[in-house]
Amino acid sequence: MQRKLAAGNWKMNGTRASLAELEKIAASRKAPAIDVLLCLPATLLSSASALLAESHLMIGAQDCHAEPSGAFTGDLGAPMLADAGATAVILGHSERRAAYGETSDAVRDKARAAHAAGLTALICLGETLAEREAQRALDIITEQLETSLPDTATPETTVIAYEPVWAIGTGLTADPDQIAEVHGHLRRLLTRRFGTEQGPAFRLLYGGSVKPDNAAAIFAVPDVDGALVGGASLTAAAFLPIVTALEDSR
Ligand code: 13P
Repeated sequence: MQRKLAAGNWKMNGTRASLAELEKIAASRKAPAIDVLLCLPATLLSSASALLAESHLMIGAQDCHAEPSGAFTGDLGAPMLADAGATAVILGHSERRAAYGETSDAVRDKARAAHAAGLTALICLGETLAEREAQRALDIITEQLETSLPDTATPETTVIAYEPVWAIGTGLTADPDQIAEVHGHLRRLLTRRFGTEQGPAFRLLYGGSVKPDNAAAIFAVPDVDGALVGGASLTAAAFLPIVTALEDSR
């Protein structure tokens, strides 16, 4: 059994002053019974990794290029993120799929690059409201999972986050039945492709307006192995109750 995972995505938020929140999170969790990961803006990785060297808090990035280095102005290669202290990288977040046209093919190439650099790939997928209303949610998710995961994916190197686009930053969350349906579907797809040993071992996170007051209900849903938290991961005050709820759900 893999440990549950509470992951935060700071998105384009945070300056060095925000490192105080990381220190507070690390100080309150000396030996957590679950994995805790904060995916920070790349500008903070080096200082955060120095600050957290003695802690169990892991840090990650939010995107990488499919090539390790080269003439790609403004981009960052996975080996550079690892060198700065990241152990994981979010890939295929819906904000990047929407704003930068990232396809599942591109996400797969990035995931392969992340694995080659020794990073855990935290691969995001999820349907839009229009897709859900058209009864296409499971079809969309199937395509995203099957195409975005490279063959280098294992339960140790890859985490899947189901983030319905309509629940991100909206205060809306998918209800437990909707989450159970999608996570059960993802589990079946993973087991079909990776087998009955590995399929059940992949960690499946839910993301989309996870807050202290709804975390316990979400973590009670079958096949939910943790959360990918946006806004509520920015402060220790909001994030720590979610970490506690996940620990309590074990
Ligand atoms: P919110 O928790 O702010 O809805 O963001 C979710 C998300 O996009 C995490 O990647």
